[in-house]
Amino acid sequence: MSKNSVLRRATKILYGRYVEGCCFKSGHQILQTFKGHTQWPNSVKVLMGLSLSVSCLLSLISLVISVVSDHGNIRIHHHDYCVLGAGPAGLQMGYFLSQSQRDYIILERNSGPGSFFQKYPRHRKLISINKIYTGRQNKEFNLRHDWNSLLSHRPDLLLQRFSQDLYPDADVFPRYLSVFEKELGLQVKYKTDIGSIRAMQFAGSGHKGYILTDQHGVDYKCRVLLVATGLWIPEEVKFVGSNLVEGYESISTDPEEYKNQAVLILGKGNSAFETAQNILGRASRIHLYSPSPVRLAWQTHYVGDLRAVNNELLDTYQLKSLDGLVEGGLEDIAVVCGKTMGKRTGKKMLGRTSVKKEQLYLTLSELLDSHNVNQGTNITAENLPGYHDDNFSLRQPYDRVIRCLGFRFNFSIFNVSARPPRSSVARGRMPAVTAWYEGRGTPNLFILGTSAHSRDYRVSAGGFIHGFRYTVRAVHKVLEQRYHNNTWPAIKLQTSHLLSWILKRVNEASGPYQMFGVLGDIVLLQGAHCEYLEEFPVQALPHFSALSGRHISEQGLLVVIMQYGLNHTDTLGSGRAESEWTKAWRSNFLHPVIYYYSTLPTERDMRQRPAGWPLPRPDAVHHIIEDFLTEWDQPVSHSQPLRRFLEHCLQTDLRAFYAESCFQLSLTNLKPPVFCRQGYLNKGGIVGNSHLWQHAREAGLKLDHHKSNLPSNDGSFSKYLSLAGGAVTSTINSDL
Ligand SMILES: *[C@@H]1O[C@H](CO)[C@@H](O)[C@H](O)[C@H]1NC(C)=O
Ligand SMILES: *[C@@H]1O[C@H](CO)[C@@H](O)[C@H](O)[C@H]1NC(C)=O
Ligand SMILES: *[C@@H]1O[C@H](CO)[C@@H](O)[C@H](O)[C@H]1NC(C)=O
Ligand SMILES: *[C@@H]1O[C@H](CO)[C@@H](O)[C@H](O)[C@H]1NC(C)=O
Ligand SMILES: *[C@@H]1O[C@H](CO)[C@@H](O)[C@H](O)[C@H]1NC(C)=O
Ligand SMILES: *[C@@H]1O[C@H](CO)[C@@H](O)[C@H](O)[C@H]1NC(C)=O
Repeated sequence: MSKNSVLRRATKILYGRYVEGCCFKSGHQILQTFKGHTQWPNSVKVLMGLSLSVSCLLSLISLVISVVSDHGNIRIHHHDYCVLGAGPAGLQMGYFLSQSQRDYIILERNSGPGSFFQKYPRHRKLISINKIYTGRQNKEFNLRHDWNSLLSHRPDLLLQRFSQDLYPDADVFPRYLSVFEKELGLQVKYKTDIGSIRAMQFAGSGHKGYILTDQHGVDYKCRVLLVATGLWIPEEVKFVGSNLVEGYESISTDPEEYKNQAVLILGKGNSAFETAQNILGRASRIHLYSPSPVRLAWQTHYVGDLRAVNNELLDTYQLKSLDGLVEGGLEDIAVVCGKTMGKRTGKKMLGRTSVKKEQLYLTLSELLDSHNVNQGTNITAENLPGYHDDNFSLRQPYDRVIRCLGFRFNFSIFNVSARPPRSSVARGRMPAVTAWYEGRGTPNLFILGTSAHSRDYRVSAGGFIHGFRYTVRAVHKVLEQRYHNNTWPAIKLQTSHLLSWILKRVNEASGPYQMFGVLGDIVLLQGAHCEYLEEFPVQALPHFSALSGRHISEQGLLVVIMQYGLNHTDTLGSGRAESEWTKAWRSNFLHPVIYYYSTLPTERDMRQRPAGWPLPRPDAVHHIIEDFLTEWDQPVSHSQPLRRFLEHCLQTDLRAFYAESCFQLSLTNLKPPVFCRQGYLNKGGIVGNSHLWQHAREAGLKLDHHKSNLPSNDGSFSKYLSLAGGAVTSTINSDL
C-alpha cells in the first residue's frame, strides 16, 4: 500500500468512527501504536473515562504516529481481542464482545462465515435437531430443542427462519451465520489467512499477548487471542497401503458411482455411517471397520456417538443383508492392491465384471514381506489372512476403502512459543485447555468451539453448537472479569425465593441442560439472601473467586447441575427410568442434581472426585427425580423434596404460609419462618412484579411502598406486633 492510499483509508476509517461516536463502534482496523500509553486494561479504562473527543484525539495521534513510523506501510494492527475463525463459535464470541463494546476483530481465511459447513457434512444433511414446535412459548426453553441457533438478543435470529426441517440441509447453516453476522454488525475480516501465531510480551506490563501474521505478512497484535478455528485436518492412521485409501473429505457423494461395489469404511462414527447410508442402495457390500464397537448416541447420551438419523446400516447388518461391522486395530493392518486371483478370493466379483480389475485387500502388515510392501501390487495368496484363516471376516476384496476417522486441530499455525499442548483425551486431536478454556501454558489464549471439546470429550455437548454457544458465553464472562473487572453477573434473591428460582431454572434453562455435567448454576448462600450465578463451568470451581470476582461466605454454596445417571444400563429396557422420588438418586435420564458445599472444593478435591462425577463429594447432595416430560414442577415429586434439602443446607424453615399463618407464627415465634419474614412481615405476601405493584397502587392497596422493606424498621407493624404480643396470652385467639 502506498502512503497516500493508507492515509486516505485511515482518514476514512477515522472519519467513519468519529461520526459513529468514535472509539467503541469500530472494529475495522483500529490503528494504534504500542507506545506506553496503551497499557491494558488501563487503556480501556482510560478510554472509557475520557470524553469522546479526547479519545478520538488520542487515536488520531496514535494513527499519525503509526502511519509515519511505518513509512506509509501499515503492517501492524492492534486489537484487544482477536477471534480466529468466523464459524459458529467465533461469531458467537464476536456477538458477546460486540455487546460489551470491546475492541475486537474476527479473522477468517475464507470469504464467508462457517466455511466448514460449505463442505461438511459431505452428504449435506445436518444431524443437529431443529425442532420448531415444542408446544411452548418460552424462548429459553425452546432453545433446548434448537441445536443450531446462536445466542443473541434477537428472537428472530434463529435457524428456523431459514429452514423448517428437523435436520436441515447443511447449506442453510452458512447462510444463517452470514445473516447473523450482518444483522448484528459483527466485525469480521474475511480472506485473512493467519498462517503463524507467536507469543509476545507487552512492554512494561508483562502482559503476554499474541502476534498473528496473515498471508500478506500483515501482523495483528492481540492482547487476548480467542481461537475458534474448529477441527479441519482429516484424521489419518498410517499403515501399509494407506495411500490407497480415499478420505471422507474427497470421496464422491454420488451413489451411482458406487454401483455394485464392495466398500470398506474405516471408522464407525457419524461420518462413516453417513457415508454408508448414502450408498446403501447402490453398494453391493459395506463393511465398517475400526477398533471399538459402535457406540449409539441413544445408549450413551453423547451426541457425538452414532445418531439414529444415520444408522440404517445397523438394520442391514442385523437382518443379514450383506453389510456389517467388524472390530480390529488400524495400526497393524495393510491395504494391498491385487488382481483377483486364487479360487477363494474374489471369484464372485470376477464372474460379474467382464474385465479383470484390480481390487483392494485388507490384510495384516505382518503377513507381508518387505518386497510386497515396496512393490505394492505384487501380492500372493499367502499375503492375505484368508489363506491362513478361512474364517477371516474381511477375506473378500473391496473396490474402495474409505477413511472416515474424524478431524484434528491444526497445531501448525502456532509457533512453539504460543502453542498449547495436546489434550490427553481424543488421541491428542485437540489442544489441552483449563476448565475455563484457556490454553494450558498459553495465558490470554482461549480455545472456543469444537476444538475446546477436550474438556468434555465423549461426555457432554461442548463439541457441538448447542453446547459451545454456552461455553463461549461463560468464557466471555471470564474475560469481562479478568480484563475489565466486571464481576460475573448474579441475581440477588431472598432466600425464601430460592426454591422457586431453582425450579424455574431447571424447568427452562437451556445452558445447563445442553452442557450437562459441565455448566452449572452457582448459588452463593448469604443468610437472608443469596446470589444466583448462571452457567459457571463447574470444573473451575476451585478458582471460583478469581474467575467470577465473587466471594463465598461461610454459609457455603449450592451447585445446580443437570446429569445423566452413571448407570448406563439398558436404555430401552424395563426399569430404565426411576419414578419414585425417594429413589431419585437412581435416576438414569437427565435430571437436576444439587450439590451443597460448606466450603469451596479445592483443586485436589476436584482431581480426586469419584469416577464419572462432575463434582467432588459434597457435604450434601440432592437429586431431583428424572421426569418423563422434563417438567420438574410437581409438588410431591419435585418441589417438596427439594425444599427439604434446601432447609437442611440452610438450616431454616422454607415453607410457604398463608398470611394468617404468618400472622400467627409471628406472634408465637421469636423467629418466624423466613417466608413470613421476607414476605408477610415485609408487607409482601405475594412476590411482586411491576404489573402487580402497579395494580396494587391503582387499587389503593399500597400507599406506603416507599418505606424501607426491613421488617424491624417498619414502625407501624412492629408497634402493632408488640401491642399484640403483649396481649397474646390473654386475648388473641390462636386459631386465626
Ligand atoms: C494448518 O496450518 C498450516 C500453517 O498455517 C497451513 O499451511 C495448513 O494449510 C493448515 N491445514 C489445514 C488443513 O487447514
Ligand atoms: C512381481 O512383479 C514382477 C514385475 O514387477 C514380475 O516380474 C513378477 O513375476 C511378479 N511376481 C508375481 C509372483 O506375480
Ligand atoms: C477362526 O477359527 C479358529 C478356529 O477354527 C479360531 O481359533 C480363530 O480365532 C478364528 N479366527 C477368526 C478371525 O475368527
Ligand atoms: C517462533 O518465533 C521466534 C521469535 O518470535 C522465531 O525466532 C522463530 O523462528 C519462530 N518459529 C517458527 C517455527 O516460526
Ligand atoms: C474492581 O471492582 C471492584 C468493585 O466492583 C473494586 O472494589 C475494585 O477496586 C476494582 N479493582 C480494580 C483493579 O479496579
Ligand atoms: C445399575 O444397574 C444395575 C442393573 O440394572 C443395578 O443392579 C444397580 O443397582 C444399578 N445401580 C444404580 C446405582 O442404580
